[in-house]
Amino acid sequence: MGKLLLLTVCTGLLSVVAYQLWNLSNMLGVFRELVAVQPGNCHLIKGIEYGSEDINILPGGLALISSGLKFGSLPNSDSDRPGQIVLVDLNKPVLSAVELRISRGFDMESFNPHGLSTFIDEDGAVYVFVVNHPRKITTVEVFKFEEDQNSLNHLKTIKHELLHSVNDIVALSPDSFYATNDHYFSHESLKILELVLGFSWCTVIYYSPSEVKEVATGFRIANGINISPDRKYIYIAESLGCAVHVMEIIPNNNLTPVKTMHVETLPDNLQVDPKTGDVWIGCCPNCWKLFFYKPENVPGSEVIKIENILSKDPKVTQVYVNNGSVLQGSSVATVFEEKLLIGTIFHKALHCELSS
Ligand SMILES: *[C@@H]1O[C@H](CO)[C@@H](O)[C@H](O)[C@H]1NC(C)=O
Ligand SMILES: *[C@@H]1O[C@H](CO)[C@@H](O)[C@H](O)[C@H]1NC(C)=O
Repeated sequence: MGKLLLLTVCTGLLSVVAYQLWNLSNMLGVFRELVAVQPGNCHLIKGIEYGSEDINILPGGLALISSGLKFGSLPNSDSDRPGQIVLVDLNKPVLSAVELRISRGFDMESFNPHGLSTFIDEDGAVYVFVVNHPRKITTVEVFKFEEDQNSLNHLKTIKHELLHSVNDIVALSPDSFYATNDHYFSHESLKILELVLGFSWCTVIYYSPSEVKEVATGFRIANGINISPDRKYIYIAESLGCAVHVMEIIPNNNLTPVKTMHVETLPDNLQVDPKTGDVWIGCCPNCWKLFFYKPENVPGSEVIKIENILSKDPKVTQVYVNNGSVLQGSSVATVFEEKLLIGTIFHKALHCELSS
């Protein structure tokens, strides 16, 4: 009797673990074959070799890009090269990146920039919010962009226990934002357990100087976050749910679920076209290759676009797919006029012409 019970419990446990591993393998694209897709001519951007994890384009066509992320066991993570924010002027015929100077007193040595978001004030001032992981902790750095000097003026560093594993951020004002946490646990081995057992405990946090609170939870790696052009809805990429969540901003900056869209890939950062409201997502089509990185078997890249996300039948289009021969490990995609910019976690950056 005892033996039978034990056997039943063991079989049960094994099948749960087996199911989770199968489920995880599917989401990490283990069984996926990539078929190349390209929208028009594409060229690499000069001067970006160590990642372009997140990109924000200002209304005039200047792109701010976080570069040099060191994260977990991903390539570059043991490099001692500090991260940087680079600028690409999309109005130029040939695109190249220029590093932005950062004001004195800011600790450049440990700068490890991740998600990034910009906010333009009524007086035209451009605030740049950057998720930073100096010495494996999380801070949010707030800068003011000084365009005429190609520099970022550091205003403040924000640290809070609810902002413990921040991946991405969307600015709401010069001093408030929403941020996603991509893990529940902070300890490395618990992070792996969280991943393998499929806990959906990641959170979205609202921050302002007077209030910091959890506004959403239940995500399996909460990743990219952004806002609709009318600033009424928030979009959240749940990487290991292969889903995009639409939430509405309600009074007191709380969020309420509107809908969840499943996508056939693992979504990372999402950007919203200010003119059309289309959501552009940098995805990780065979993400397992990131975690077991080998130069002879590199992770690919994928970009999808969601049109009419708030309507009854949104349209999802695959805009770019590459097996890694050109671009490895895409993390973000964003558009300016007829140009598509694709960034990566640790590799290069690409721009493509959208021939419509
Ligand atoms: C993995 O499991 C989640 C629920 O835990 C489910 O929504 C999803 O469809 C599964 N994915 C695959 C590829 O099996
Ligand atoms: C990747 O795609 C290119 C062409 O698109 C092809 O030449 C190359 O063999 C592919 N590499 C792998 C590893 O499949």
